[in-house]
Amino acid sequence: MTRRLAILGGTTPIGELEVISKQEVDTPFGTCSSALTTVQLAGHEVVYLPRHGHEHTIPPHMVNYRANIWALYSTGVTHIIGMAAVGGISSNCPPEKIVIPDQIIDYTCGRKHTFFEQDLDQVIHTDFVEPYCHELRDILLRAAAGLDLEIVSSSTYGVTQGPRLETAAEVMRMKNDGCDIVGMTAMPEAALARELNLCYATCAFCVNWAAGIRENKYNINISKVHNTARQGMVLTRQLMGASVKRFVIQ
Ligand code: HPA
Repeated sequence: MTRRLAILGGTTPIGELEVISKQEVDTPFGTCSSALTTVQLAGHEVVYLPRHGHEHTIPPHMVNYRANIWALYSTGVTHIIGMAAVGGISSNCPPEKIVIPDQIIDYTCGRKHTFFEQDLDQVIHTDFVEPYCHELRDILLRAAAGLDLEIVSSSTYGVTQGPRLETAAEVMRMKNDGCDIVGMTAMPEAALARELNLCYATCAFCVNWAAGIRENKYNINISKVHNTARQGMVLTRQLMGASVKRFVIQ
């Protein structure tokens, strides 16, 4: 089977990408965040889909996660790297750190979170003990090691509903639950990818300390968050490039 990689872009930009082609895709679940764009990255073709739309206008709770994942699946994508800007909760997840999570706690509500709800021959329960795909996590971790990038290789991503940020008490509860980072988009994206047997991993970039964690220059302020995300562009792009190369030779 031909392997095909897609990057689901988040709030962290990865810079200019050479566009090869664009494909509008209709799905039974509605419209995806934008046309699927085949781009050139590190000399190889990958599919790029900005989750929040090309102009970054779709908030996390309004993203049509089912349409996005279905569109990628139906066009032959087998592997997805979901990029995410997150807040750091654990002390080893400060602003500007790249984190590759291995667990998820889902605090979202009311999102369309499954493909399996109608016209079923039988009820389907999807295994999700390990929410992330080993193969793609491994590619990201080895690519980071090859670049001498110090990243966090194991962490729990707590996914909140947004679009508002969390209260300090909510973050304290998440910390007690075992969350290391907080963001708004890994769910239901990761679970939907698993329902279709797609290999999915998150590459998270910390843009602030989560609410109430620390008083410092990185306290939450949306324009600072976007600034830090932009500063992360060089690192995340390097990591994506190196990962694409590894994906192709593997
Ligand atoms: N909370 C939730 N989502 C986020 C944050 C945060 O602090 N920072 C970036 N995305």
